[in-house]
Amino acid sequence: MTPRLLLTLALWAGSTCRGREAPPAHPRVQCRAPRYPIAVDCSWTLPPAPNSTRPVSFITTYRLGVAPHGESRPCLQRAPGTPSCTIPDVQLFSMVPYVLNVTAVHAGGGRSSSFLPFVPERIIKPDPPEAVHLRPLPGQRLQVHWEPPRSWPFPEVFSLKYRVRYRRLGATRFRQVGPIEATSFTLRAVRPRARYCVQVAAQDLTDYGEPSDWSLPATTP
Ligand SMILES: *[C@@H]1O[C@H](CO)[C@@H](O)[C@H](O)[C@H]1NC(C)=O
Ligand SMILES: *[C@@H]1O[C@H](CO)[C@@H](O)[C@H](O)[C@H]1NC(C)=O
Repeated sequence: MTPRLLLTLALWAGSTCRGREAPPAHPRVQCRAPRYPIAVDCSWTLPPAPNSTRPVSFITTYRLGVAPHGESRPCLQRAPGTPSCTIPDVQLFSMVPYVLNVTAVHAGGGRSSSFLPFVPERIIKPDPPEAVHLRPLPGQRLQVHWEPPRSWPFPEVFSLKYRVRYRRLGATRFRQVGPIEATSFTLRAVRPRARYCVQVAAQDLTDYGEPSDWSLPATTP
């Protein structure tokens, strides 16, 4: 190599490296469908990276299918800069996955994209059931009643099934019953005068996705 070429290389390397920030971190994205089939809700976090600037905005798009030149549509952000977006118009039982592209745009102009492929049916996770009520019945029975999560749009079409777990106050372990395809259940042989704590979880009837978190607990008066 001639000295001149070496000098050129050194200058080139210097000019590209100097003042260059560490590459911005990639967003960590997750998508859930608690309102299936109306929408898919996605959110992300950005791991802190040394010396990287805070992102000033996010570009969020999705495609149906993994073909690189498919049509991109916006994943809707409620406000620019918030780490979440919504995909409306979910296509049911699509044969190809959706791919979400979240691009963080940093103040210095740096960009970093993350891609998340998903199938809506597999990321169903209802919100927990609501309004869990207990009613003691004669004969050592305790009736549990609840409502489907209000965010689940079509409980008549996309039915939910439920699990109930209960624990006598003072006992360490929960007992669990279900699946139950109704919004009430009667526990039998409960101890008279003992107090119980009861929670309910919902899941898609056909086992898509995962169960909800447990509801807020209801306790016998
Ligand atoms: C981060 O910035 C500090 C001070 O500005 C500097 O000393 C350090 O070398 C930088 N670290 C990296 C990984 O660029
Ligand atoms: C992801 O989105 C960014 C910003 O719109 C775009 O520049 C990039 O090409 C997209 N990547 C793919 C693989 O679609």
